[in-house]
Amino acid sequence: MSEHAATSTPERGPVARILVCIPTYNERENLPGVVRRVRDSVPEADVLVLDDNSPDGTGQVADELAEADPQVHVVHRAGKEGLGRAYLAGFAWALDRGYDAVVEMDADGSHQPEQLPALLAALDQGADLVIGSRWTRGGSVVNWPLHRKALSVGGNLYIRVLLGMPVNDATAGYRVYTAEALRRIGLDNVASQGYSFQTDLTRRAVERGMTVVEVPITFVEREIGDSKMSGAIMRESLQRITVWGVEHRAEQLRALVRREPRWHQL
Ligand code: GDD
Ligand code: MN
Repeated sequence: MSEHAATSTPERGPVARILVCIPTYNERENLPGVVRRVRDSVPEADVLVLDDNSPDGTGQVADELAEADPQVHVVHRAGKEGLGRAYLAGFAWALDRGYDAVVEMDADGSHQPEQLPALLAALDQGADLVIGSRWTRGGSVVNWPLHRKALSVGGNLYIRVLLGMPVNDATAGYRVYTAEALRRIGLDNVASQGYSFQTDLTRRAVERGMTVVEVPITFVEREIGDSKMSGAIMRESLQRITVWGVEHRAEQLRALVRREPRWHQL
C-alpha cells in the first residue's frame, strides 16, 4: 500500500536518484558494515563498489552483497590504478544510467553513512558540490595520529595559498556531486590518479563558478586495515597542486597587466 511505501522510502527533494560510489582496495572486513549502514541511512540510494581486484578478496565480498540486494552493484577493475581512476569509472557508470547525484565515500568507516542525509540536504538546497568537511566549524577528526593531521592541515593551507579557493577542506573524500556538476566539470581530461583527484575536482568546480558547500563531518579513522596513503600519492599531490597554483597565479598576473577585474580574486 502507498502508506507503507511512504514510510519505508523517505521523501526526497529534487535529487531523486542517488548513487553512492565506494572505492575499495583490501577492505573485505570493512565493506559489509559500511554498505549496510548506507542502506539503512539512505534507503533510496543505490551503492556501487569499485574494486581494483583486491588481493584480499574484497571483490568477492562485494559480489555477495550485490547478489543479496538489487540496490548494490559492483564494478571489477583489472588492478590498482588509484582512487581517482576508480571514481572516474564510477562517475561514468552513474552518468550512463541517469543518476541525479553521485556520492563519494571511503569503505573503511571514516565517512559515517549516518551523516549522509545532512550532505544530501545541502544538495537539495542548491549546491552543485557538497564537501563533508573536517576543517570547517563543527567538523572534526577522531583518532588520527598527529602526522596525518599535520599533513591534512598543511596540505589544505598549501592549497589555499597557491589556489586561493574559498574551501577549508579541499582534499576531503566525502562528497556529493550533482550529475550536472560532473558534466560541467568535464571528466575526460582529469589526469589525477591518486588522492589529488579530490583537490583537482574542487578546483574545477570553483573555476566554473559552481556552488560549493561545506557541511561539517566527524571523520573517524579506520579501526581495521591500513590506509593506502603513500609517498607516491603525496608526491603526485604536491607536484600537481604546485603546477595548478603557478598556472593560477600566472593567469591572475596576466589579468592584472591587462587591467581585467580577475586579479582582485584571491
Ligand atoms: N579502487 C580503489 N583503488 N580504491 C582505493 C585505492 C585504489 O587504488 N586506493 C584507496 N582506495 C580506497 C580505500 O580502499 C578506501 O575505501 C578509500 O579509497 C580511502 O582510502 P584510505 O587509504 O583509507 O584513505 P585515507 O584514510 O588515508 O585518506 C582519506 O583522507 C584523504 C585526505 O584527506 C580519504 O578520505 C581520502 O579520500 C582523502 O583524500
Ligand atoms: Mn581511510
